[in-house]
Amino acid sequence: MKQYGRITGWGKSVPARILTNFDLEQMVDTSDEWIVTRTGIRERHIVGPGETTATMSLEACQRTLKQANVSPEDVDLIIIATSTPDYLCPPVSSMVQHQLGATRASAFTLVAGCTGFVYGLVTASQFIESGMYERVLVVGAEALSRAVDWTDRATCVLFGDGCGAVLVEASDTPTGILSCELGSDGSDWDALMAPGGGCVKPFGEEVLHNREHYLRMDGKRIFKFATRKMAEAVTNVVQASGLFWDDIDLIIPHQANARITDLAMRRLGVEPEKMMVNVDRYGNTSAASIPLALCDALEEGRLQSGDHVVLVGFGAGLTWGAAVLHWQPEPESEGLINVEDSPLLASLFKPVRNAVWNTQVAARARLQDMTIAAMTPIHRLQRRIMRK
Ligand code: COA
Repeated sequence: MKQYGRITGWGKSVPARILTNFDLEQMVDTSDEWIVTRTGIRERHIVGPGETTATMSLEACQRTLKQANVSPEDVDLIIIATSTPDYLCPPVSSMVQHQLGATRASAFTLVAGCTGFVYGLVTASQFIESGMYERVLVVGAEALSRAVDWTDRATCVLFGDGCGAVLVEASDTPTGILSCELGSDGSDWDALMAPGGGCVKPFGEEVLHNREHYLRMDGKRIFKFATRKMAEAVTNVVQASGLFWDDIDLIIPHQANARITDLAMRRLGVEPEKMMVNVDRYGNTSAASIPLALCDALEEGRLQSGDHVVLVGFGAGLTWGAAVLHWQPEPESEGLINVEDSPLLASLFKPVRNAVWNTQVAARARLQDMTIAAMTPIHRLQRRIMRK
């Protein structure tokens, strides 16, 4: 029987320490007014002594498993998306796997810039759909405050630290990712980079002197790429899902800059209330930003069971990724109706709505499978002809 990846748990971890724009005014030549008007950011969380990507990931995973009522030994795989691992070697994912007590789990770290979480979620769903794994933890975690140059006002005001995680479990009933798109355009690889510390320029005196181990960014190039790609990727995945625009309840974009989100929203013609924005509180937390925004959307009651949500990310690489999710953390048969708390009409409406959605999702999944099966040989032929 075909398996689907259902998100059954989620959790976040953010450092207690907060750095406001007014604090930054004391550190570099900037102003709250400049930062707010150009980016929408008002404050960000910053790791303190002893806090790292691993410690935040561990806490977020523990909260996620508790919320899903799953024990660490039942996790099959842990994927940690990050550009700021505790060490270049070993992978931070194995450290977290051990500390969590996920004794059966395999683990790997995924580097795809700010798009890392979307790449991770799609990968997790593929492992589940293939039948290889039943429970996968996907984590987006960053300690970017340890990678930015605190003397460079062009970058240090933008980034923050944090972590978000989800548990994806196998489900017999259609749910989870309905459509997705992952992309990379390496021709712009140098638009956001740390020039030193890799194998091209191993860390040493020269790198240290030139401050090349810190992040550098061509903001304008990324801005142009992000506004175009976000709108394109969202349109592509919504169309591929077979849903109508009105069926989309919430869009959770990578939180890099409120101006980018505003522009993309206008291009898409989406109402502002359908777009999740929390960049004002966290800054750009790279791979952590989408799962953090997802957790906040749930805390704020902006996402209900049965809703359709679009996740869209972009970042270093340059990479991008988007997915349409059918959000239903509880299997359909379990406790959907609370007769005592709900008015009669609502309690009648809920199961009907869920049944309709499930039938639609199943039909779409079947149709997609059939289309893929029919198109694969045509695409292969097309590629062979083009190669000649
Ligand atoms: N405070 C005050 N002034 C600043 C500043 C700061 N923190 N950072 C830059 N400036 C100055 C610049 O030096 C420049 O001054 P000048 O005109 O005297 O040379 C001026 O502000 C304008 O800089 P500019 O780079 O043109 O600003 P911008 O409108 O392009 O906005 C970004 C800059 C970074 C906010 C914008 O390009 C952006 O958001 N890009 C996308 C970045 C991103 O999302 N990166 C992460 C991808 S995942």
